[in-house]
Amino acid sequence: MKGIILAGGSGTRLHPITLAVSKQLLPVGDKPMIYYPLAVLMLTGIKDILIITTPADLPQYRDLLGDGSHLGLRITYAEQDRPRGIAEALVIGADHIGSDSVALALGDNIFHGNQFSDTLAENAADIHGCVLFGYSVQDPERYGVGVTDENGRLLSIEEKPTHPRSNRAITGLYFYDNDVVDIAKNTQPSARGELEITDVNRVYVERGRARLVELGRGFAWLDTGTPESLLQAGQYVRTLEERQGVRIACIEEIALRMGFIDADSCYRLGERLSNSGYGKYVMAIAAEFAQNPATTAEGAEEIRTASR
Ligand code: TTP
Repeated sequence: MKGIILAGGSGTRLHPITLAVSKQLLPVGDKPMIYYPLAVLMLTGIKDILIITTPADLPQYRDLLGDGSHLGLRITYAEQDRPRGIAEALVIGADHIGSDSVALALGDNIFHGNQFSDTLAENAADIHGCVLFGYSVQDPERYGVGVTDENGRLLSIEEKPTHPRSNRAITGLYFYDNDVVDIAKNTQPSARGELEITDVNRVYVERGRARLVELGRGFAWLDTGTPESLLQAGQYVRTLEERQGVRIACIEEIALRMGFIDADSCYRLGERLSNSGYGKYVMAIAAEFAQNPATTAEGAEEIRTASR
C-alpha cells in the first residue's frame, strides 16, 4: 500500500496565522502537525509516502522530512498549485500509486486511541473497495455523514446535510483499492470547482464496495482547523503525554518499533534534537529498546502487531 498526505489548502479559518506559514507545519503539542498523519501511515505499515502541498510551502516540508530515509521511509513531494479539492490528491498522486492500493491522510487530522495500529493494519490488508473511518460527533452537519447497514457497509454518504441521518462523521483517512485512480480521474468538479472526495466515495457506495469502520468512544479524532480547535488539540496531546510519559506521533519511535530503523539509528536521530524534551525522549526510548526490544514502553505490543 502507498501513502499520500495532503497538506495544501489555504487555511483561511486560521488567518492571519496561516498567511505566511502552512497550517500543517503549525505546532500541536511539541511537534509539527504533519507528524500526526505521518505517524498514522507509518503505523499502517506504509513506507512509501507522497506529500502534496502548495508550491510555496513544499521546500519547508522537504527541510523537515527530507527523503525520509532516516526513518526507513521513502518520502517524495508533489505540488497542488491551487486547492482544487481533496480528491485531486489521487489524480496528482496517480503515478505514485501505480498499481497499488493507497491510504490518503489529510494533513490536519489527528487520531489517537487504543489499538489503533491493529485497526489500521486489519483494514489495510487485502483491500477491495474503500474503507472509511467514522466518528460520532455532536455537529454532523459540518461533515460528510455516513449511514451503514449492520455489517458496516456504507449505504449512503451525505455531504454537510442540513438534517443528518446519523451522527457519524467521515474522518480524513481513506483507504482505497487501485480503482480509485480511475474513479478520481473521472470525477467532475463540483459547483465550487473542486474534486470532492465525497463524490469519489459515492462511486464505491454505489458499487456496494464501501465500508465504514467505527472509531469508538475511547477514541480521539481532533480537528485543528480553527484557533480554538488547534489549541485544544495541543492541550489534549500535552495532557496525555505529561500524564503517561509516552509521546503521541513520535515518528522516530514508531520507525523503531515498526522495525523500519534500528536502535542505534534512532538514538542518533534523538541526539540531533537533544536540547529538547522530544529529542531526549527519542534517545531514552532507543536506549531502552536496545536493552530490551521486547518489553519497552507502552504500545510496543500494539505496534508490533501492526508490523506483522
Ligand atoms: P480544509 O480544512 O477543508 O481546508 P483548508 O485547510 O484550506 O482550511 P480553511 O477551510 O480554513 O480554508 O482542508 C482539509 C485538509 O485538506 C487540509 O489539510 C488542507 C487539505 N486540502 C488540500 O491540501 N487541498 C485542497 O484542495 C483542499 C480542499 C484541502
